[in-house]
Amino acid sequence: MAIELGLIGGTGLYAFPGLQQATRVEIDTPYGAPSGAYVCGELDGHRVAFLARHGETHTIAPHRVNYRANVHGFRQLGCRRVLGINAVGGIRYDMGPRALVVPDQIIDYTHGRCTSFSDVAGVKVEHIDFSHPYTPQFRSRLLAAAAQAGIELIDGGCYGATQGPRLETVAEISRLRRDGCDLVGMTGMPEAALARELGLEYACVALVANWAAGCGDASEISIEEIHAHLAAATARIPALVRALLAMNLG
Ligand code: HPA
Repeated sequence: MAIELGLIGGTGLYAFPGLQQATRVEIDTPYGAPSGAYVCGELDGHRVAFLARHGETHTIAPHRVNYRANVHGFRQLGCRRVLGINAVGGIRYDMGPRALVVPDQIIDYTHGRCTSFSDVAGVKVEHIDFSHPYTPQFRSRLLAAAAQAGIELIDGGCYGATQGPRLETVAEISRLRRDGCDLVGMTGMPEAALARELGLEYACVALVANWAAGCGDASEISIEEIHAHLAAATARIPALVRALLAMNLG
């Protein structure tokens, strides 16, 4: 049975609850090792594969994730559709802690990452259209599934991808806001672009863990609060994924 959905768990999501008949699949890729084993199993009779982006014990920093291997591994598994689950900071007034957002745009501020499968000497360079970085139809299905299941998702927003692993300064967030970013996270890119290069459907559900620097009332960001907010937001992901699978993605 083909894998209907690939899942990449971010900070706070290192194993997918409720996966039945799960097997761990180690994959070697032409781009090196992925972040860990792909855990393949069934959710309500649908085949899915889960990968912990930062490793199962959170040992891989955002700028050290082998995004190419991770995305390529899904393709090697025969998976045509990947949902990225990413912790973020909220910038827009309605994207406070614990909100779930399905962004529709990206601005990439990262540097020094391998951003393309064409980034190999002698390989023909392939350019991709990236006007709409997330697969529109996949986003729509995710939003429809959430609506059906009564799970609140914010439709749209611009994801600013920063380098990390530190959080941003107040001035950096002011700049992101001026640029039009609504959310800030460290792992949204180059994952989305690599998925597009391979022709995979890709969407993101962003879990707001904190107000980005300077956006909330507090003068500093509490790491403990980040974890508490993330745990609350992450608890809504299994129901969302089950609702998505119930749409028979094919
Ligand atoms: N900035 C960048 N990445 C993040 C944040 C943040 O404030 N919170 C969670 N991931």
